[in-house]
Amino acid sequence: MEDQATQLRRLMEGKYNNGASLPKTMPNLGPVPETKTVAVEKEPLPVPEVKEEKEKKEEFIPRTAAEVPSYSRGTARTIAITSGKGGVGKTNLAVNLAIALGQLGQRVVIIDGDLGMANVDILLNTESKHSMMDLLRENVALEDVIVRGPYGVSYISGGSGMEHAADTCTPQQRNYLFQKLAGCDEWADIILVDTSAGIGQNVRDFITAADEVVLITTPEPTAITDAYAMMKAYSTLSSKNNLKLVVNRVFDEKESKEVIGSLSQTARKFLNTRVDCVGYILEDRNMLGAVRKRMPLLAMQPDSMAGKCIKSLAHNILEGRHDKVQLGWQGFLRKIFRF
Ligand SMILES: Nc1ncnc2c1ncn2[C@@H]1O[C@H](COP(=O)(O)OP(=O)(O)O)[C@@H](O)[C@H]1O
Ligand SMILES: [Mg+2]
Repeated sequence: MEDQATQLRRLMEGKYNNGASLPKTMPNLGPVPETKTVAVEKEPLPVPEVKEEKEKKEEFIPRTAAEVPSYSRGTARTIAITSGKGGVGKTNLAVNLAIALGQLGQRVVIIDGDLGMANVDILLNTESKHSMMDLLRENVALEDVIVRGPYGVSYISGGSGMEHAADTCTPQQRNYLFQKLAGCDEWADIILVDTSAGIGQNVRDFITAADEVVLITTPEPTAITDAYAMMKAYSTLSSKNNLKLVVNRVFDEKESKEVIGSLSQTARKFLNTRVDCVGYILEDRNMLGAVRKRMPLLAMQPDSMAGKCIKSLAHNILEGRHDKVQLGWQGFLRKIFRF
């Protein structure tokens, strides 16, 4: 009997192609409206101070999820964008997808959950003054933490403290954060969480808390093996079975089919789970050029090959909303703050 690693290696050698579903043809969307680049000089990122909230005697502290009050309708779709291997295109996908979804009439907020890396800031050439953990300060409101970035991209920096929020914050602090963050629902139809790579604890929290997970990989064998490890972790951690694949940096559609075929077959065989693909993105030098200029590809070259792929992906993500929002944004927060 072959072990899983041997099977996976064989699959990656292109021996199988089960013709798993691919996204539809690329729609021809209009250009991205022009906006100005905000050039801000980069300084070292501030380390957020986590201060003890003053004791409020009469304050109600929820002990269970059922006790946490609802502050808004809680209908934002929460999608975690994750990968097994680093550097496969998560942040570029998150930022460009936010623009593409915005063009389709969706209000999108990105949570930069690649903690300590401030990737979204770097790609947009912006600097966020506050991170999520600054909400613990009385004088910092949600509006101060949401960056209204260029090209219509809004985002919140997770900040390095967020990683340990569930363990290091008191119940009062967690409740306080929850109350402030819950309002994000009113600002967004879709919340994209850009996570770190790999299966560290914070990524596990994000992928189990989000209603949907987009797993991005490239055709590189190491990226595929790591994507498989992520699929395996997800299948044991989450009962939602709501994982969608994106294959980035493919040379053509055929290559994406091979990757999707091998991963979906392995998932079916070893994890007894179905994995669908929500799209692929072609290898495109324009992406590199955009990153170097610190502009999103969809702002710089919306009609580039990769740009069209991302617009097509946005369509597929919107069309694929068969399942109702399960936990939504507030459910996401409850999970990450362990209520
Ligand atoms: N479709 C693509 N074609 C060419 N280069 C790409 C493509 N997607 C991503 N890249 C390159 O890969 C690098 C890493 O992308 P990034 O989004 O920062 O990855 P991650 O967030 O997963 O670490 C970027 O420098 C980008 O230029
Ligand atoms: Mg990143």
